Amino acid sequence: MSDIDIQRETWATRAGFILAAVGSAVGLGNIWRFPFQVGQEGGAAFLLAYLLFIVLVGFPAMLVEFVVGRHTELNPVGALRAVGGGTWTYVGWIFIATGFVVLSYYSVVAGWTVRYAFLGLQDGYLADAAEAEAQFVSLASGLDAIFFHALFMAVVIVIVALGIQQGIELAVRLMVPAIVVITLGMAAYAFTLEGAGEAYSYYLSPEWGLFLTEWQSILPAAAGQAFFTLSLGMGAMITYASYLGEDQNLAEDGAIIIGFDTGIAFIMGLVVFPILFTAGIDPADPGAGAIFVSLAAAFGDLALGWLVGFVFFTTVAIAALSSAISLMEVVVSYVIDERNVDRKIAASVVGAAMFVLGIPSAYDLVLLDLIDLFADQILLVLGGLLLMILVGWVLPDLAVDELSRGIGDLGALAPAWIWAVRIPVVVVLIVALALGILEYYEFLTGEFAEWIADQ
Ligand code: PFF
Repeated sequence: MSDIDIQRETWATRAGFILAAVGSAVGLGNIWRFPFQVGQEGGAAFLLAYLLFIVLVGFPAMLVEFVVGRHTELNPVGALRAVGGGTWTYVGWIFIATGFVVLSYYSVVAGWTVRYAFLGLQDGYLADAAEAEAQFVSLASGLDAIFFHALFMAVVIVIVALGIQQGIELAVRLMVPAIVVITLGMAAYAFTLEGAGEAYSYYLSPEWGLFLTEWQSILPAAAGQAFFTLSLGMGAMITYASYLGEDQNLAEDGAIIIGFDTGIAFIMGLVVFPILFTAGIDPADPGAGAIFVSLAAAFGDLALGWLVGFVFFTTVAIAALSSAISLMEVVVSYVIDERNVDRKIAASVVGAAMFVLGIPSAYDLVLLDLIDLFADQILLVLGGLLLMILVGWVLPDLAVDELSRGIGDLGALAPAWIWAVRIPVVVVLIVALALGILEYYEFLTGEFAEWIADQ
């Protein structure tokens, strides 16, 4: 560690912190995964389960990451060493590893969105679903994908290299309002489409029958999505909160961040489904490349679809960028704090390494799945779970003390929060981890084994 005491950066304003956290939370998860999950897994019934998990699991877990970050003013490894010490330091390492691995392929997928935005401006989108799928397969892997992966990573490096105030805070001040305004604009446009009525009822009517028969798979999906969409389990919120200089009301901040994240996810459904229904495309079975296949085909069918598609994919790329910078900052903050490396060098080296690690994902979709499932369903959940056990069961007093800074006496909120972390959050994460391991095993012995055999 450094023996020179360098002044650690902080956010310039409270809004800067909130916007950065909203930017991190609103990403590919909100736009690609959320609407399709609601549509497929019971409509409003899924939505209610999801909201329950957001409040019961996501909110308490987010406050845990916030207090650990603000209390220690350190990167995740330093933070875990400071509050837990000993073996707990390894939990910090899990966060760094997760952030590293996730950004390597998140950048590949984000590169596709940039590619698809350009597609609108060049040749437009293909209306035929089979052709659209063939196009996706050819663009999603290979040189094209590697090029856009490199381009996206380069932009992330530049923003992170510029630092907290001049880089990240400035970028999110532009990006987050743009995402909100464009999303609302697209929802207004989607409202005018002829398929809107039918789409809304598909999206928003509760299918209790489906929910009651399949709750075993629907509930874990809702819980996992709640965790991922709020950027939990990777130390991103620890890192962002470590740059908080002053005492602000973290519970209020958390509620605002969650409100924005959920709002954007919900409104994205109001954008996506009217477009699909109007183009006569069945939203029930979107498959892996949903927005790049069925939605792109819908853009191919609509009047001025190239323009709508261009705006849509640009928005997705911006949302992915504001999430990606938080992932890179997790790793970069570690390199700066613990290795005493200059920020610009840290960002360049980390970004270059992440780019290289992402090349296999840009080379073959099965390799992307291999790494995505492992990071998303195992590493992320494991890191999150261990942190919740540490804070909820070992360090509740420290946590309550830290949360009360900027709020005052917490009253009944303190035990309510700690008990929410101790039981519902921990139980949900244990179940999610068990299911994640099972699913990964099935993937390794099924799809992946077949892929290996074909090579
Ligand atoms: N919350 C982002 C999304 O919904 O796409 C993904 C994400 C970003 C997860 C950053 C974790 C993280 F640290």
